[in-house]
Amino acid sequence: MLANELMTKLHGTDIYAGFDASLYPDDTQGWNSEHPLLMEAIRVIRPSLVIEVGVWKGASTIFMAEQLRAAGLESSVLAVDTFLGSITHLTRPESRASLAPRHGWPQLYYLFLANVIRRKLENYIVPFPQTSDTAFQLMQQMGLRPQLVHIDAAHDYESVARDLANYYSLLAPGGALVGDDFTTHWPEVVWAATEFAKRHQLNLQQLSGKFLLQKPNV
Ligand SMILES: C[S@@+](CC[C@H](N)C(=O)[O-])C[C@H]1O[C@@H](n2cnc3c(N)ncnc32)[C@H](O)[C@@H]1O
Repeated sequence: MLANELMTKLHGTDIYAGFDASLYPDDTQGWNSEHPLLMEAIRVIRPSLVIEVGVWKGASTIFMAEQLRAAGLESSVLAVDTFLGSITHLTRPESRASLAPRHGWPQLYYLFLANVIRRKLENYIVPFPQTSDTAFQLMQQMGLRPQLVHIDAAHDYESVARDLANYYSLLAPGGALVGDDFTTHWPEVVWAATEFAKRHQLNLQQLSGKFLLQKPNV
């Protein structure tokens, strides 16, 4: 799906227009963002629509968009995040500082936009600043069917279980869902992902902290 079509559907306007990226530092700090499972999923599936839930400064969003561009695909990454941080970011001083609050409101979203513009990826990335729940409801109503989903938002059991159920339901047959932080450091992610895979009788592949679930081809 072309990013400008999706941009019009979601925002009704080009949200990048007139934005001055030079006001923000070039900072794409992330966690496990340039991951081989994301690269391999894009190489094999050649998705026309990718949805990422949990964007932060955009490191993994940008990585996937760069893979799409390198493969010559006219596809888009729909980037969903509140850009307000998770509980862990609010309780760690260094992550809290990254939110860069201005009059109390985090500037993380603008840092992300600047990172996208600097890499000339506006034709691949459509930002959607929203909670994962509300974004899901809208995407469901719009009938969006991504072929690849990357889940990396809140890491507590309830949130992960809900994001997995919601976004797996949107996934097109044959598509893949990749999730982050399948490690002993995040036991609730492991719990939710393992339980979800079992309930749906899916093979859970793991590689260096991420997991992958493939939706059967009906
Ligand atoms: C671990 S970071 C994402 C990192 C990013 N994928 C990367 O590789 O750099 C988690 C993000 O999830 C977002 N988040 C947490 N809970 C959310 C929710 N309920 N809805 C939308 N975004 C959420 C936070 O704002 C934060 O930016």
